[in-house]
Amino acid sequence: MIREFAPAKINLTLRVGALQDDGFHPLDSIVVFANWGDTLTLTASEDLSLTLDGPEAAGLPTGEDNLVLRAVRMLAKAAGREAKGAITLTKNIPAGAGLGGGSADAAAALRAFNRFWTLDWPMEMLAGIGAQIGSDIPACLWSRPLRMTGRGERIRLIDNWPVFDAILVNPQKPVATGQVFKQFDDLPTGTGKAYIGSADGGRAAILSALGAATNDLTQAALSVEPEIGDVLGVLTGTKEAELVRMSGSGATCFALYPNAVARAAAAGLVGEARPDWLVLPVQLGGASGSIAR
Ligand code: C5P
Repeated sequence: MIREFAPAKINLTLRVGALQDDGFHPLDSIVVFANWGDTLTLTASEDLSLTLDGPEAAGLPTGEDNLVLRAVRMLAKAAGREAKGAITLTKNIPAGAGLGGGSADAAAALRAFNRFWTLDWPMEMLAGIGAQIGSDIPACLWSRPLRMTGRGERIRLIDNWPVFDAILVNPQKPVATGQVFKQFDDLPTGTGKAYIGSADGGRAAILSALGAATNDLTQAALSVEPEIGDVLGVLTGTKEAELVRMSGSGATCFALYPNAVARAAAAGLVGEARPDWLVLPVQLGGASGSIAR
């Protein structure tokens, strides 16, 4: 049996440019991964099947439009293999949360079949397939701190990035990525800031550079789901919060803390204030230890 962890993706920063002719927007984003996410297992079988379980399994498509099955079929075609295998996906990451759940699952499937069929393809080759299915899949294949540009297909790994204690807060209101980008197109552009800085200045310098950068989709996401404003407000009010932002196209927001004690205190406070929200104490950084290449 092959097991792959599919960690949640968090955009620490997200600069978005104007809509291009291909229908996509140029991005520039610092991306990290949580030590929390979905799990994919794969066993030999005479057919291709996908079974979903876990708290977020309900309502997800299990047919051909599922990103996992699309990824497996594309990899099988490219590798000249028959698409066969029994996949079980334990879903913890909510859909439409800005955490790249579907992309993380598809990336985990590509890594799993790469091992299962002993293809030994380098990550860049898998990313070439993944990028055709979803913009976040190349980043999710690496599941390490990185800078992502282009539509999401250009990846530069960042070494020496610190691990941050954080909480993720999702108001349990799904937000459709496409809808947020459409709203973004109606807003004046050019006001946001990309991350400027290197990973070598240490934690304090990195935090200060992160603080000067933006998530350009925030205003657009707020107009789609105003409760994001409440999440940002509550997180900003927690003690010792060092950076508060939305991830991706929302609705999940995160706050960074100096240590696990401050993180636990904040998680307790937010959970008490809003029992209807999903509150997750996590570490953000490299989930790389659990990603088999
Ligand atoms: O690639 P993915 O399926 O994740 O993208 C979902 C939607 O988000 C796209 O259909 C597009 O409307 C928007 N998007 C974009 N520019 C990007 C990535 C996504 O406009 N770079």
